[in-house]
Amino acid sequence: MSSSNITWHEGQVSRVERAQLLNRKPGLTIWFTGLSASGKSTIASALEQHLLHRGVSAYRLDGDNIRFGLNKNLGFSPEDRTENIRRIAEVSKLFADATNIAITSFISPYRSDRASARQLHQEAGIPFVEVFADVPVEVAEQRDPKGLYQKARAGEIKEFTGVSAPYEVPETPEVHVHTDRSTIAQAVEQIVAYLEANNLL
Ligand SMILES: Nc1ncnc2c1ncn2[C@@H]1O[C@H](COP(=O)(O)OP(=O)(O)O)[C@@H](O)[C@H]1O
Ligand SMILES: [Mg+2]
Repeated sequence: MSSSNITWHEGQVSRVERAQLLNRKPGLTIWFTGLSASGKSTIASALEQHLLHRGVSAYRLDGDNIRFGLNKNLGFSPEDRTENIRRIAEVSKLFADATNIAITSFISPYRSDRASARQLHQEAGIPFVEVFADVPVEVAEQRDPKGLYQKARAGEIKEFTGVSAPYEVPETPEVHVHTDRSTIAQAVEQIVAYLEANNLL
């Protein structure tokens, strides 16, 4: 159901002007995608720390954490996954609009959902940097830091990405990190190099 009788109320300060007034760069969203245990949360957290130490206002929105609160009423059906991503796209856009670097780490398995998140940002003129945390499913399964693959194989978790639910690989991510070949620090370096090369820091 969508609301009627509502009108967008424009503020007095544009996105770029807000950044100038705060003596910062305008914000953006760094969108991690990848299998469970691919390293999204680990790299996102290291990246956030790195950026904060550089004086950049970075803020992480993490899959599991958001499901404790904002999205606690959502499960893992295709519809709920889509709604999960839709809300995160909206929230990350708000953070980015407020001159932060929003860093999201959600499996976000569907290409169409990621495309919607990207479009939402593009329409607002906010850069969207998709980072593919790529790892063979066998490696993710060996890591299994939360024991989820084991549960999924035992049939205790239904619709588990990579086991019993699909993961649609990004075709043209801005950054592609291979977490079975590079260290956490190297992945952070690779992302920061992209941001610097594109004048986003
Ligand atoms: N190069 C690497 N990059 C990221 N994580 C790695 C790497 N090598 C090993 N790991 C481990 O893999 C696991 C990834 O888990 P996590 O970051 O929670 O994944 P996700 O958020 O994608 O589900 C962690 O236990 C992490 O320590
Ligand atoms: Mg995670």
